[in-house]
Amino acid sequence: MTRHLLKLSDLSAAEAQQIIARAIALKNMRDTSYRPFTGKTLAMIFAKNSTRTRVSFEAGMAKFGGHALFLHSGTTQLGRDEPISDTAKVLSRMVDAIMIRNDSQADQEDLAANSRVPVINGLSELHHPCQLLADMQTWFEHRGNPKGKVAAWIGDGNNVCHSFIEAAVLFDFKLRIATPKGYEADAKIVKAAGAHVEIVHGATFAANGADLIITDTWTSMGQEAETKKRLADFAGYQVDADLMKRAKPDAIFMHCLPAHRGEEVSAEVIDGEQSVIWDEAENRLWAQMALLEFLLGA
Ligand code: CP
Ligand code: NVA
Repeated sequence: MTRHLLKLSDLSAAEAQQIIARAIALKNMRDTSYRPFTGKTLAMIFAKNSTRTRVSFEAGMAKFGGHALFLHSGTTQLGRDEPISDTAKVLSRMVDAIMIRNDSQADQEDLAANSRVPVINGLSELHHPCQLLADMQTWFEHRGNPKGKVAAWIGDGNNVCHSFIEAAVLFDFKLRIATPKGYEADAKIVKAAGAHVEIVHGATFAANGADLIITDTWTSMGQEAETKKRLADFAGYQVDADLMKRAKPDAIFMHCLPAHRGEEVSAEVIDGEQSVIWDEAENRLWAQMALLEFLLGA
């Protein structure tokens, strides 16, 4: 059966741990002749902007001997209403894997259901699983196994937050979530995580004694018209130096990027000593190559 990664919980805990261990090994490997993807092609469909996701998949495929095809959805026939199921049938006869970034988890599921090759969610309105593979790799590298630790999500209960919730289950840590009213994480995703997730009121309650502090933009792609309202609604949710002081002294700070200094995070924190954002961004490459090895059986 073809495996896909449409959300992090498509993996078992053992598989997720195996992919992270492999990502760390690939990063440390000095063998430049390693070419597991020779002759293989990854099609990347983007309906939204990207820097990290596009470059990490494309550079990773090249590094490991393969090829990545950038397909802006608007300039493919998807932009002229060709059904995504037909697109899946055609692409999967030509390429070895498909990555898609759009704002419809349902369309991604349709794509996967009609594809002979693995489909990877490169971000949807509901999930961002590749980001979490990189984040977990980064947490392991900086502080060891996250099992039993506490992460604090402060800000919007969005796609990245949902994947963090699923990571809490797979990697057995506690995720405390503080969001303003009206920006809560999806109730079904929270419920499925059981005791791994704790919803708290106010950023300081989430940050108290935490091992990891995470946030994301207050205005995700596609929500630009709400920017002004969101800036007002998220007042009190900025991750600043005072909030970081609530966490453990050796706590680290993560952000999937792109970031908005002075909004969801102060410059002092994101550019400060506890921030691991550049490793986190780099790890997109290693974690995704480990994922592709896993999905393609390389
Ligand atoms: N974090 C992330 O997915 O970045 P891009 O939007 O640049 O791909
Ligand atoms: N929540 C953000 C993540 C960007 C990588 C968005 O959806 O725009």
